[in-house]
Amino acid sequence: GKLRERGLDVRLEDNALALTRRPRRGRAADWSRRLTRENAVTVDDLIWPIFLIEGENRREPVAAMPGVERLSVDEAVRAAEEAAALGIPALALFPYTEPGLRDPLGSEALNPENLTCRALRAIKRAVPTIGLVTDVALDPYTSHGHDGLLDGERVLNDATVAVLARQALTQAEAGADVIAPSDMMDGRVGAIRQALDAAGRSDVQIMSYAAKYASAFYGPFRDAIGTKKTLVGDKRTYQMDPANGDEALREAELDVIEGADMLMVKPGLPYLDVVWRLKERFRLPTFAYQVSGEYAMIQAAAQNGWIDGEAAMLESLLAFKRAGADGVLTYFAPTVARRLKGL
Ligand code: PBG
Repeated sequence: GKLRERGLDVRLEDNALALTRRPRRGRAADWSRRLTRENAVTVDDLIWPIFLIEGENRREPVAAMPGVERLSVDEAVRAAEEAAALGIPALALFPYTEPGLRDPLGSEALNPENLTCRALRAIKRAVPTIGLVTDVALDPYTSHGHDGLLDGERVLNDATVAVLARQALTQAEAGADVIAPSDMMDGRVGAIRQALDAAGRSDVQIMSYAAKYASAFYGPFRDAIGTKKTLVGDKRTYQMDPANGDEALREAELDVIEGADMLMVKPGLPYLDVVWRLKERFRLPTFAYQVSGEYAMIQAAAQNGWIDGEAAMLESLLAFKRAGADGVLTYFAPTVARRLKGL
């Protein structure tokens, strides 16, 4: 046939290579592929990040994150009920703060009646079995969109840490089970641990955003919490340089020494090497955050018919497991959970 015309004589049976190892043997049948599969995504691996907004009965689409909505507290309770029914272990809460409540100091972060605290109490009351993770950082509350206090253009470290420790305690008192500092100030994990313990809340866990990079993939999130237009400058004086891997080990080591119960790497897919290295080194529960931009890319390509969105979603989550993650914060959580249940 065609190959012969091109000068190659291939006969189907007679070209057997004398191979001892033939990896394809194991891939030939579905039963064998299943039997030898090393990793799996289960519902137990999922943390579902949700966005909160003021109001009642309100669901507001996030433009750059198709399928994601900001939820009023009552709708967040419904989401929590849905998550619990699906078996999702935990939710992570992120507030869209009304612009009038934002100030240079982010003082709304310390208000026990702020949106996050009200959602914590309402969800705890309705769905006491679900884990609640809260983000510690000032950016949803500051008029300048930075995670900390400013002196001119400088983001202050130690003064910010004092506020963050109070913010963490405020969240814990409202019902947070896991405090997740995403601010990348030096020393904040230790300060938060001390503040919690001093208040008798040694039961509250800390999941540190140990390695959080100054990433372009957070764009849609900043749209969702309304800091996109207000952010002055960038976050490179506190978030990590995407060029650095060893530095992630140093950052994580400090958080471990300061008392982090769990580590997180963020963004996710572009930083799988970092997930792997942290897990190998510290053997702590280690999480990846599949951030807003990662979610948006998959959804946008899927909507255009350029990739199979569901397959890409599952493959991306499996990649986190293969890289050693114990779980993933992902906006796909309810979709994956339904899919895993065959719904
Ligand atoms: C803020 C925070 C960010 C995210 C989680 N917490 C954005 C930022 O640092 O600007 C990003 C999450 C996402 O993109 O999905 N402290």
